[in-house]
Amino acid sequence: MKLQLILTLVFLIVSASVAADYVRPLPRKALQFPWDPKSSQPQQVHISLAGDKHIRVTWITDDNSSPSIVEYGTLPGRYDNLAKGESTSYSYLFYSSGKIHHTVIGPLEDSTVYFYRCGGQGLEFQLKTPPAQLPITFAVAGDLGQTGWTKSTLDHIGQCNYDVHLLPGDLSYADYIQHRWDTFGKLVQPLASTRPWMVTQGNHEKENIPLLKDGFESYNARWKMPFEESGSNSNLYYSFEVAGVHIIMLGSYTDYDKYSEQYRWLKTDLSKVDRKKTPWLIVLFHVPWYNSNKAHQGEGDDMMAAMEPLLYAASVDLVLAGHVHAYERSKRVNNGRSDPCGAVHITIGDGGNREGLASKYINPQPEWSVFREASFGHGELKMVNSTHAFWSWHRNDDDEPVKSDDIWINSLVSSGCVDKKGHELSNLLMTP
Ligand SMILES: *[C@@H]1O[C@H](CO)[C@@H](O)[C@H](O)[C@H]1NC(C)=O
Repeated sequence: MKLQLILTLVFLIVSASVAADYVRPLPRKALQFPWDPKSSQPQQVHISLAGDKHIRVTWITDDNSSPSIVEYGTLPGRYDNLAKGESTSYSYLFYSSGKIHHTVIGPLEDSTVYFYRCGGQGLEFQLKTPPAQLPITFAVAGDLGQTGWTKSTLDHIGQCNYDVHLLPGDLSYADYIQHRWDTFGKLVQPLASTRPWMVTQGNHEKENIPLLKDGFESYNARWKMPFEESGSNSNLYYSFEVAGVHIIMLGSYTDYDKYSEQYRWLKTDLSKVDRKKTPWLIVLFHVPWYNSNKAHQGEGDDMMAAMEPLLYAASVDLVLAGHVHAYERSKRVNNGRSDPCGAVHITIGDGGNREGLASKYINPQPEWSVFREASFGHGELKMVNSTHAFWSWHRNDDDEPVKSDDIWINSLVSSGCVDKKGHELSNLLMTP
């Protein structure tokens, strides 16, 4: 009898450990930030690409008389160059922001470490400029927020060797509480001051109040992206080129129909893409078009109906989205089905926000969906050369990064799709 009990116990333990799949983690608490007395020091430093060989440095000071200057050079403590920028600020109900400085520096050498200082005082920062040519590596994480999981994701990104961070929307989860934008700025500074952060907006950036506030005021003031440099008249959509990759950031929460400014801008931008110069074409936006998670079902349908034909004709290689707090990777798809000349769609809205994971999926898994997993984590995208890219997804197993999905992606240039569809694209671009 006793032996039987022990055997049963052993059996139970063994089968439990065999069956033990990865246990989905619960949301983690919001990080606590110590109260900061007002300081004259530059804070919340982050950088972004601002046209060929230029970088925009953004920071905030409590001191309104602090100048918008950046001193920089390739040796620590020796600043041979100085750039002057502009500044802005905003108020939101009872909150008044600090002075938000935006200063573009350059021309800069490629793949070079620069040392810099903001506002003529305080800490020295260092940044590395991206390479001029492939290979280049991107870190990707959306829906970040500022919780224990955010910290874990940022730690893992900090350990990887990457050139530029791509963020498909939902940054601080300030959600109207403006000082959370400031704590977010401080949380990401160690990474965002050293590598360009290229972001697009999500629903949590909107913060509109009917009759009082238009949307995206804080986001636009704090996270100025190179929209002017890319011929756009809105910070909510823009494009940039880096090392053989053309990247388009779209807005899921601004007009996207055929008659909209965004659609017109997108057509103009696509007409300028030269696949000899930038063989890879990537698009980011917040609300996924291909999503088999039960969360946010169908929310991307209208934008997809309006814009997918354009992206398909232009042979977009890869689409990165956020919004759904889980990871999903598709086959090459178009019009709801797999298609060898369509884009690979990846949803990666699980950087670590406080709302937790979206773990319910539609079954059976759609034909186009290859891999789905509700975990927190980040992605790494290495564009190896003009024909091959390597994508990997790293989930936060407790606080260890564990690679749980990876795939080689062949470019549409190399598969002949770009040439095959060139005519279709010119027709679409010519229709008014
Ligand atoms: C591109 O990279 C892939 C993967 O490393 C390699 O197999 C291929 O030969 C490379 N192509 C060229 C033209 O170097």
